Amino acid sequence: MTRGAGRRRLLILGGTSEGRALADAVETALGETYEAVTALAGATRAPAPTAGTVRTGGFGGPEGLAAFLRDRAIDCLVDATHPFAARISAHARMACDATGTARLLLLRPAWPRHRDDDWIEVADMAAARDAVAARGGRVFLTTGVKDLAAFSDLPDCRFLVRLVEAPKKPPPLDNHDLVVARGPFAEADEIALMRAQGVDLLVSKASGGDSTHAKIAAARRLGMPVVMVRRPPAEAGPRVATVDAALEWLTAQAASP
Ligand SMILES: NC(=O)c1ccc[n+]([C@@H]2O[C@H](COP(=O)([O-])OP(=O)(O)OC[C@H]3O[C@@H](n4cnc5c(N)ncnc54)[C@H](OP(=O)(O)O)[C@@H]3O)[C@@H](O)[C@H]2O)c1
Repeated sequence: MTRGAGRRRLLILGGTSEGRALADAVETALGETYEAVTALAGATRAPAPTAGTVRTGGFGGPEGLAAFLRDRAIDCLVDATHPFAARISAHARMACDATGTARLLLLRPAWPRHRDDDWIEVADMAAARDAVAARGGRVFLTTGVKDLAAFSDLPDCRFLVRLVEAPKKPPPLDNHDLVVARGPFAEADEIALMRAQGVDLLVSKASGGDSTHAKIAAARRLGMPVVMVRRPPAEAGPRVATVDAALEWLTAQAASP
């Protein structure tokens, strides 16, 4: 079979390093069998290069995604979105159920809690705000731009905010310093940053993954508490934790009638 003729159609919901790695791996290992489109929300102005076709922007809710799956005759969808991107994952479940499209969740494992970790685990950003309010001080916010507003009514805190890209609008925080940097980060650099900035509390989502784990290890080394926002529940259905396992699932899908 030549490429382009009769290949199965795969939609990867991306915006993560796993989504990018899967698109690369499909191109390399399953390029004769699958043609992949990676969907990005469009939140990042300069996303890293991705193999295959890239489509940017929302679908218009679960109905819009279902229409896309039908119109493009998509055979399989891999939801490789971030563990905190709960809305698009729910939309993917609904759209795949409505269209009978096979769906796999590629979900990175959560960080294990080490016995020396001093984590204050909270259910959501509102609870994280309360935990920060109770402590005050120099607070390192690494939650992402969309979650900064939750901390906007804490004038006694001095925030250090780290974002992947310069924000379109200034962060809604009275007293803050901004660092723009994209992972992966090294533990020694995280320790140096936290020391230089006089950080005494870290706020993080329980995102998991290697690229941003160094801040967690650095906080442990410094004996610093971490306000850790728990993940929303994952969607039900088939789930894998690695790109290799996702390739195996795709191979099995291609073999099934
Ligand atoms: N949340 C985080 O902490 C985080 C961190 C790193 C990366 N990301 C990535 O950033 C993107 C947006 O995250 P979010 O938390 O804002 O998502 P979300 O709240 O679950 O989704 C909000 C809306 O954005 C659109 N959308 C989200 N992901 C999309 C994708 N991969 N392709 C096309 N449309 C998408 C959908 O719009 P329509 O309803 O119009 O289809 C969705 O309803 C995701 O791709 C995610 O993987 C998120």
